[in-house]
Amino acid sequence: MAVTGDPFQSFSAQLYLQEYYGDIGEENQFLLSFLHETYELWNPKVIWDIGGGPTIYQLISASRRASQIRIFEYLEENRNAVKLWQQDSPKSFDWYPYFEAVALLEKGQGAAIEARLRNVIQSIEPVNLFSESQVIDGSYDPTPDAISSHFCVESITSDPEQFEKAWSNLMSLVPSGKYLIMSLLKNARKYSAGPYDFPAFPVEEIGLDARLKKEGFREIEIRTIPAEHGRDYQGIICVRAIRQN
Ligand SMILES: C[S@@+](CC[C@H](N)C(=O)[O-])C[C@H]1O[C@@H](n2cnc3c(N)ncnc32)[C@H](O)[C@@H]1O
Repeated sequence: MAVTGDPFQSFSAQLYLQEYYGDIGEENQFLLSFLHETYELWNPKVIWDIGGGPTIYQLISASRRASQIRIFEYLEENRNAVKLWQQDSPKSFDWYPYFEAVALLEKGQGAAIEARLRNVIQSIEPVNLFSESQVIDGSYDPTPDAISSHFCVESITSDPEQFEKAWSNLMSLVPSGKYLIMSLLKNARKYSAGPYDFPAFPVEEIGLDARLKKEGFREIEIRTIPAEHGRDYQGIICVRAIRQN
């Protein structure tokens, strides 16, 4: 299906979750391991997750460190999907295998880790990375110790100008001295969920490294895994970096 207008009008949380998180394959295990390692290394207390979608896997290891997580997501349907999980609704997507996978890494208990994450999520709020003014409506206080953003900035447009806008809005959220923790599709122009296509902007490791250096980041760690068979992207890139200025 062609990508016209706001492609996210046809986004279905259920189809997306089924397509990308239905099982913990190599890509998802790679993400969980990178996040586990990152939050072993770093200790951010206040975390903002930008473009969280209907997912919470990206915050499981984060909850080991965080005392306060604010989730920001563009679509109400996705915010509601996360609320269903928060309320332990039988209608929620089953994230329990992800908690068990992280429990193996932490040598902990899946149920205790799930309760830990529920406990630290402070809010689920709207965001728009294409905004010309503030990208969030709520308070900026306290400012975040870490910005977490997974498959968002490169997965919402294929237009170069729009991508630059979203990129600079995302970067503007990371305070000096604080952390950026991201995952991105490698070299994608689109990705699909069920019958629907969504736009992507192609990024790769060398370009990302150069962009981050230009933004004043240091201790840049970039790791990639090739895509699983039949995907529209070449791989998955995980990134962590500290903003110096
Ligand atoms: C590929 S999904 C990623 C979801 C989740 N973070 C993950 O790791 O699977 C892209 C997300 O970006 C959100 N999005 C779409 N337009 C946006 C915008 N203008 N600003 C911020 N996020 C947007 C979508 O609603 C969707 O949840």
